[in-house]
Formats: sequence, structure tokens, C-alpha cells
Amino acid sequence: MEKLTERLLLREFTKQDVDAITEFRRDPRYLEYYYRPAYTREECVRFVEQCIAWSKENPRCKFQLAITNRSNGVLLGNCGVRTESIESRRGDIGYELSPVYWGQGFASEAVRSILQIGFEDLDLDEIEARCVVANKRSVRLLRRLGFEEAERVPPGPGRGEFANRMLPERYVFLLRRDKWIYSLFQPQES
Ligand SMILES: CC(C)(COP(=O)(O)OP(=O)(O)OC[C@H]1O[C@@H](n2cnc3c(N)ncnc32)[C@H](O)[C@@H]1OP(=O)(O)O)[C@@H](O)C(=O)NCCC(=O)NCCS
Repeated sequence: MEKLTERLLLREFTKQDVDAITEFRRDPRYLEYYYRPAYTREECVRFVEQCIAWSKENPRCKFQLAITNRSNGVLLGNCGVRTESIESRRGDIGYELSPVYWGQGFASEAVRSILQIGFEDLDLDEIEARCVVANKRSVRLLRRLGFEEAERVPPGPGRGEFANRMLPERYVFLLRRDKWIYSLFQPQES
């Protein structure tokens, strides 16, 4: 899968992407809302291998794509949309950028393409995003793209890769298909 936007190319991961991912996943600005030590290179190798494995699944339920600058190929971050089974109508998204590239609208531009994959290729009815309340950049991104707050989860243990970790207060945001279609016809907010 490849997606071209005005400034970006979203593409499948390759093993050569590990170093770029490892470098920004050590940055304290990136780690601020993950409440964990810096990712090791081995963890980043496993992450990239997982993304590559998902790309080969058939039917495919999980898209986790590298975000690159379309003019020079530099890796800026990654984003994805995932669902548990092809029959499921609900999925979730995740996104991350190297702090070097924050504040330029790259993540919003990438996530717009990821939403298109979720609603069109995966035929989802609604997409969830979980976000720490204090992570204001991420909250602004989600609201900019039309997500609405569905739940505010009090501090407590996380789930999935965050299991066994105490997490602060966080939002569950939702975007429904009808709201997404409506947003496509509105002028884009930067
Ligand atoms: C969450 C995260 C991706 C947001 O990054 P970001 O750079 O703020 O988001 P965007 O790329 O969409 O950029 C939006 C900002 O760029 C500005 N901008 C500048 N030029 C722009 C342009 N040409 N087009 C659009 N926006 C532009 C916008 O005004 C906006 O600024 P604001 O938030 O101060 O209003 C980033 O902080 C991150 O990777 N954090 C670590 C990982 C993380 O927390 N992931 C989310 C877990 S829930």
C-alpha cells in the first residue's frame, strides 16, 4: 500500500527504516506521554518486523505505514489503522512523528490518508483513538480531523502494549463514517 499526499509518501516499512525509528524514539520530547524508558533498537526491530508481517497478511486488517517526505524520501514518522478482523466495523489509529518535524501539519496530513484506508479499504463504521489528556498536540490533531471525545478514562493500568503500566487520565476519541464523509467537504483546518 502506498498513499501520496501533497507533501508525503506513506509506504510500507522496510528493515532499513529501523535506525530512523530508533533515533526519534529515544528523544525525550517524543517519550513525554509514553511513561516508559527510551525504546531500544531491538524493540524497534520488532516493531518494524511486525509492520512488515501485517503488510503480508491476507486478508489484511492492519496498516502501519512509514511517513516519508515525498520530495527527498526522509522518514518522518509512522501511522496506522488496525482492526481485529475483516468483519469488524470498528478500528483504531496510531501516529507518531519525529519531534524534528512537529508543528508543520505532517501528522494531520498523514492521518487523513490513514482514515481513508480505514473507512474505504477496511470499510469501518467508526475509528477510535486513545490519547493522554495532557498530550495537547495529539488532542488538537484529533479534534482538527473531526474526532469527538467519547470517554474520559481515569488514571489506571493500561492495556495491550501498555499493560502493567499506570497511565494518567486519557481520552477515548471516536470518528464515525458519516462525520468523516462530512469533513471531506469542509475546508481543511491547518
Ligand atoms: C502527536 C503528534 C503526531 C502531533 O504532531 P504535530 O506536529 O503537532 O501535528 P501536525 O503534524 O498535525 O501539525 C499540526 C501543527 O502544525 C501547524 N502547521 C504549520 N504548518 C502547517 C501546514 N502547512 N499545514 C498544516 N498544519 C501546519 C498547525 O497549525 C498545528 O499547530 P498547533 O498544533 O500548534 O495548532 C506529535 O506530537 C508526536 O508524534 N508525539 C509523540 C507521539 C504521540 O504522542 N503520538 C500520539 C499518541 S496518542
